Formats: sequence, structure tokens, C-alpha cells
Amino acid sequence: MPASTVVRGPVLTFTGDPFRDGLDATMVHLPDGIVAMADGHITHVGPADAVLPQLPPCVEVRDWGSDALISAGFVDTHVHFPQTPMIASQGAQLLDWLERYTFPTELRFADEEFARSVAKLFLRENLRNGITTSCVYCTVHPQSVEVLFEEAEALGLRLAAGKVLMDRNAPEALRDTAQIGYDQSAALITKWHGRGRLLYAITPRFAGTSTPEQLDAAGALWREHPDCLMQTHISENRREVAWMKELFPEHATYLDIYDHHGLCGPRAVFGHGIWLEETELTRLHQCGGAIAHCPTSNFFLGSGAFDLARAMNSTRPVRVGVGTDIGAGTSFSMLATLGGAYESAQLNGQSLSAGHAYYLATRGGARALYLDERIGSLAPGLEADLVVLDMRSTPLIDFRMDQARDLADRLFVQMTLADDRAVQATYVAGRLAYERPPRRS
Ligand code: GUN
Ligand code: ZN
Repeated sequence: MPASTVVRGPVLTFTGDPFRDGLDATMVHLPDGIVAMADGHITHVGPADAVLPQLPPCVEVRDWGSDALISAGFVDTHVHFPQTPMIASQGAQLLDWLERYTFPTELRFADEEFARSVAKLFLRENLRNGITTSCVYCTVHPQSVEVLFEEAEALGLRLAAGKVLMDRNAPEALRDTAQIGYDQSAALITKWHGRGRLLYAITPRFAGTSTPEQLDAAGALWREHPDCLMQTHISENRREVAWMKELFPEHATYLDIYDHHGLCGPRAVFGHGIWLEETELTRLHQCGGAIAHCPTSNFFLGSGAFDLARAMNSTRPVRVGVGTDIGAGTSFSMLATLGGAYESAQLNGQSLSAGHAYYLATRGGARALYLDERIGSLAPGLEADLVVLDMRSTPLIDFRMDQARDLADRLFVQMTLADDRAVQATYVAGRLAYERPPRRS
């Protein structure tokens, strides 16, 4: 047996989609479980008393204790690494926020060393929060993609990213052209897509900053490389939606703009989608595109409360993952993001159970990115990306956990009260990539 890493503790994972088949049929909880990993993949998952006898007798087992929770690593389906320096910028809604904070910050990524320093910090924050895969917007500068991929490769992360395409309605130094954007993206695909665990995402920022010619070029590039992802924004803000009607009067809906240019299909990830119409949700279901639900961002920018139950409607369910959407999002913590998803559901008169929420952060996110056969759950053969949570990470949580009735309650406490302090360890491809420093008492 190859050199292995073995962890022990309570285990939570999903074998299917609880929105479709219910939690009883899809959520697996092992009160005392083992996950064994070798060569970057999971080799064993099961109750400790069943799995331990199958492992070599001298194998070292890292026991995280009964107050831990071992889960598949979190999947962030929508995030902008270059916006890390401007997280928590006050006072504007989407279009003004882009002008006032986003574009000036993204201009700084012409400087490769600055871009690298932010990429390192961004990936470190991901690991500190148990995020082992993210789908990332870079800037218009190809070197912003290069540095992120280089740093992700050094950490062995599975990660998708792409150069932002913008050829109008942005500062000149942030604009490419349809041809230049196509050529630079094509070169990045050749170099990086499928290299190790890295994937390329063709990234027209949104229809507001791309001409029809650029959207056409992005569609052509995706047809030439259909196993790449494609990411963009849609129907986030009411003023944005009205602006799209002005820019593209010939299209009946916002999604139709992208569809017309060949940008709807499997592996398309649309950020936000708060104000989508019924016909657009139906089309997303048909084409296999996904929505990245970014609740903390939606609240921070005052964009609205995404209606998850409507998107997931069983007559035409759309794939949905969750996104931190840094820097409009307010936290790298996936637990805080799930708390936001709960609040967003509440504003729509629904309730999001903890089990459904943890699914969205793991297997659901992986499914949104068409990666659920590789990541997002704990099963032999899958890539060994794990997060180990500490279910008693603060004095208040510790106290509240003593009152908790059952697993659902304990999980819900985490997504309502916990943050990065709850992440004890993050494993990437079977390697301990982050461990929380010992707490000062
Ligand atoms: N729409 C177009 N660009 C952006 C962006 O950078 N952030 C958010 N939240 N929405 C966008
Ligand atoms: Zn975004």
C-alpha cells in the first residue's frame, strides 16, 4: 500500500442530491469515521471499526476527536481574487461599486509582483477557510491568471480561473479587444487547462463590459474548447438588468444575450441570477448551466435575496452552488456564506436546512462545476480534499453545542455562528495543507 494519510473523527458527506432525493437518502454521517488517502485520492471511507482492520497495522491515524467534523473540502463557485484588497468597501450598489472600487483595484494587477502577493494571500485565505476548489475571476491582465495558476499549482489545488474579457465600459487600461481577448485566453488555455488539477474558465465579465463581437469570440473559443468552464455575471442588480435591455434591445431576456452568443451550456457558471425570469430558469435547466448563489455579496451590495427554492424547483431544477464573491462578498468563510444563504431563503419565506446547505458548499458546488465525479464528497477514488471543522471553536459555540438536540442542530449552529476559527485543518490531495495554530489562552 502506498504511503497514506489517515484521519479519524465524525464524518459528513453526501451520496446524492438532497434537494432531489431528500436528506435521508443522500446525507451520510459517521459518528466515528475514518478517511484514508493515498496518492492524492481517497482510498477508504467508513466507520472506524470497519475500516481500521483493513489498514496496515502500523499506519499512523490522526484522530481529530469527537468534537470535529470531517467533510469534503468546500467549493467556492464564484470569487474574484483581485478584489481581495478592496473587500469591505463602503457605500455603493453594483454599477457604482464597479467604477469606484473594483476597476481602480483591478488596474493594480498590471504589476505582476503585486498580483502574485494577492494570489498567495487569497489562496492562503481559502485554505484557512477549508475551501479546496474555487472558480476564480482574474483581471484583464494575462499575468494575473499566470500567477494564480502558478501559486495554485504549487499547493496542488484543484482550481478553475480565467482572464476577464472586457472591451467596453471600463477604463482603457482594463480593456482588451475581441481579438486580443480571444488570443490571450486561447494561449492561457493551451498552457494551463488540464495541467495537473487546473482548469480554465472563459470569463467574459458580463454583457455590460463586452461588445457583441467579444461575446461572439468568447462563444467561438468555448466551442473550440468545450471542456473549459465559462463564467460570467447575470441579473444581479435591477439597474444592471435594465441597462442590459438598453444595450441589447433585440434580446428578450438577459440570458438570451449569452445564449445567442453560444455562452449557455454545461460548465457555464452564472454569478448571482437574482432577477432571472421563469423562461431563463427553464433555459438554464435545459442547457445545464449553473447559478453561483452569492448571498453575502447580494446583501452587501443591496442586490437582493436570491430565491433558492425557485431556482431548484423540481419541475426544472437548475444546478446551484454557493460563492463567496470576494470582494463584494464579505467573508471567505463558507460557513458564513451558508449563513447568508439561510437568511436569503428566509427573506423569500423559506427555510434552508443545514444538511441542504452543507450539500451546496460541497457536492452541490462540485456538481455546478461538473466536477462531482472528482471532488465534493468523500468516497474511494475521489480526490482527497478535506476540511476538518472544530465544532466548538468559540466560547459561545461551545456553550450552544451543549444545548444542541441533534446533528441538524449542531450543523446549523456552525453555519450561523462559526467562521474561519472553526477550520482546524485543510487537506489538499491527501496532504495537510493548513492546520490552525494552537489557540492562545
Ligand atoms: N458584475 C460584473 N462584474 C462584477 C463584479 O466584479 N462583482 C460583482 N458582484 N458583480 C459584477
Ligand atoms: Zn462576481
